[in-house]
Amino acid sequence: MTTDATIPFDPTSPAQRENPFDVLALARREQPVFHAPALDLWVVTRHEDVLAVLRDHGTFSSAGALKSSSAPHPAEVLDVLEGGCPDMPYIIELDPPLHDRIRGLVARAFTPRRIGELEPRIEAIASELLDELAPRGHADIVESFAWPLPLRVLGELFGFPRDDLEQVHRWGIDWLLLQQARPADEHVRHAHGLVELQRYCVAAVEDRMRAPTDDLLGAMVAANQDAEDPLSAVEIAGLPLDLMVAGHVTVTRAIGSALDRVFAEPVVREHLLDPVLCAKAVEEILRLESPAQGLFRVTTREVELGGTVLPEGARVMAHFASANRDACVFAEADAYRPERDDIGAHLAFGKGIHFCIGAPLGRLELRVALPMLLRRLPGLRPGAEPPTREAVFFARGFTSLHVEWDA
Ligand code: HEM
Repeated sequence: MTTDATIPFDPTSPAQRENPFDVLALARREQPVFHAPALDLWVVTRHEDVLAVLRDHGTFSSAGALKSSSAPHPAEVLDVLEGGCPDMPYIIELDPPLHDRIRGLVARAFTPRRIGELEPRIEAIASELLDELAPRGHADIVESFAWPLPLRVLGELFGFPRDDLEQVHRWGIDWLLLQQARPADEHVRHAHGLVELQRYCVAAVEDRMRAPTDDLLGAMVAANQDAEDPLSAVEIAGLPLDLMVAGHVTVTRAIGSALDRVFAEPVVREHLLDPVLCAKAVEEILRLESPAQGLFRVTTREVELGGTVLPEGARVMAHFASANRDACVFAEADAYRPERDDIGAHLAFGKGIHFCIGAPLGRLELRVALPMLLRRLPGLRPGAEPPTREAVFFARGFTSLHVEWDA
């Protein structure tokens, strides 16, 4: 076995933000579980080992699943957070039993019927955005489509007024940025944003406790009132917060990455426009691009994984994107092959108790929006201005993607 130094993992570097895959392939061959000292992370790269992490939630706790930095918050940040709802639980960072209680509530309200009913709304929102875009002939497609589409869909799902959505989105980004190492003054600003978002979500839950609504949040509140062991308003309020953030940035990234694939490989355009092949093409793009490249766990005991012993308290990155290109599972793993019969094994939505609760909605948004985009913007191609990639190292996507079409 080689030493850590032989895996030049540097996911924040421009080269690896563009292409994280070569170094991960090297790791899968040479040192499938390795320590990245600069990030203080144990990175798990093989499909089999990532699955083992996701399935053993007793050993690999989700407490801090979003936190990519091991540094504790400075006192001035903690002061701000104390003024909000410091005990608000976020489903993605919970272990059983509270995880299962909260997830059960979402499952009762976020039913396949409710998701199916969203299809015409997704079409209408996409159409509205494209009506505005089509005559222009060029745009940053992230800003003008990939970003507003999922945000408006989630806004309608939760019954949040459209005028509030940009603000809710910015507060959600504050929450994400708070999880990463940054200068203290920036963290104080992000902490204020998170506190505002917490208050907004608690107020929305309390409104629905007083006056029932038909939206998803109203359905969650109603399901909670019928539960044997009901959750508090603050416990429920973590859900819109979680779902708005988890369900927005991921779909935005997936739309940008899908278009990048379309530009690199013209057959992808044909497949997305083909009603029979579209769903498979979307799945294959998710496998190859993995909008959530990986998420985090903390070991609750010393454990051996992939030939490496991890200490108790180790911060672990389950690298979905690496697992999704593991040749032990996927034939011609780096190639776009939508007809592959091993596609069901991809981990772009995770696995186990934290498997993405929004996967059916994410898939539906992509299957509806991508063909509409290609149809309504004929000759869609890259614009002159270069794209900019997402800086968050455990994500993959674009913060701007300039495109042109025949107006
Ligand atoms: C292409 C789009 C999406 C991708 C790639 C994606 C990816 C993921 C992944 C990898 C996880 C597992 C996290 C873990 O194991 O720690 C996850 C969980 C989650 N996702 Fe998604 N997601 C997408 C869309 C959505 C949407 C649309 C929603 C909401 C409507 C959503 C809500 C959630 C929530 C709430 C969890 C946490 C579930 C739990 O902890 O039990 N996601 N997602």
